[in-house]
Amino acid sequence: MADVLVTGGTGVLGRKVVERLLRDGKGVRILSRRPRPSAPSRVRAFWGDLAGGSPSLREAVAGAEAIVHCASSRFRKTRAVDVEGTGRLLEIARDCGVGHFLYVSIVGVDRNPLGYYQAKLEAEGRVERGGVPWTILRATQFHDLLARLFGALSRFPVLLLPKGFRFQPVEAGEVADALVAILRAGPSGRASDLGGPEVRGVADLARAFLAASRRRRLVVPVPVLGGTGAAFRAGANLCPDRAVGRVRWEEYLAEPLVARGPDGR
Ligand SMILES: NC(=O)c1ccc[n+]([C@@H]2O[C@H](COP(=O)([O-])OP(=O)(O)OC[C@H]3O[C@@H](n4cnc5c(N)ncnc54)[C@H](OP(=O)(O)O)[C@@H]3O)[C@@H](O)[C@H]2O)c1
Repeated sequence: MADVLVTGGTGVLGRKVVERLLRDGKGVRILSRRPRPSAPSRVRAFWGDLAGGSPSLREAVAGAEAIVHCASSRFRKTRAVDVEGTGRLLEIARDCGVGHFLYVSIVGVDRNPLGYYQAKLEAEGRVERGGVPWTILRATQFHDLLARLFGALSRFPVLLLPKGFRFQPVEAGEVADALVAILRAGPSGRASDLGGPEVRGVADLARAFLAASRRRRLVVPVPVLGGTGAAFRAGANLCPDRAVGRVRWEEYLAEPLVARGPDGR
């Protein structure tokens, strides 16, 4: 049985995709910049950097039937990793005859000038024109991202938050479920957006996080100037008509690890 390569298989989403593929009895490979990444023993780990075009990239791809592309720079080296790296991976995938390239993107990347989002949008274009049968799934912000953000901000006595921003957080495991279902169904172009069950103001989400982690902080909204602030205030990151996730923020926060962890993880 041919394998599935999960780039970013050590990350928040990628780890959950790997778990589900293993449960389905699939052969799974991951790509990581770490020589010995932690991964289940049945996973074949390849050491490589999307930004550097390391020779092991081809090794990781050759013989894979599909790629779930979850690797991302998260704001550092965005162009080299998310745009050029995606392009490089696509070229190799095309050469190797990969049957399905599944890319994870973010709701609203086409309506927000944030540099990271613009890079994701450009990467989407590369996927569409890459010559490999493809699917792109856009999701809203994961619970883990907001928990990490609030955890980092609450190191200070006052929690400064962008005024007027709303989020529709989704459980990364539900995004992984959707990716695996898409893999089973085959390439389908642009998939319907995937959003969490509820849209809430950022201060409201932060207060629930503070209560769950038993911290007392003053929450202060701060205006964010410029196009990115305007896009978030206009709800460009939301898809209320696609509120298909089921796990609510408070349910996520009720996990003992989140309630205890000093950084919200
Ligand atoms: N987080 C969210 O709220 C959210 C929402 C919607 C969509 N998404 C998208 O979902 C995807 C996964 O997000 P995530 O939050 O799970 O990411 P994450 O936890 O930050 O993981 C990023 C992954 O990318 C890999 N990576 C980073 N730079 C690399 C490079 N140069 N070469 C190879 N691998 C590299 C890392 O692997 P190593 O460190 O092992 O090398 C890591 O496994 C991203 O495309 C993101 O844009 C995220």
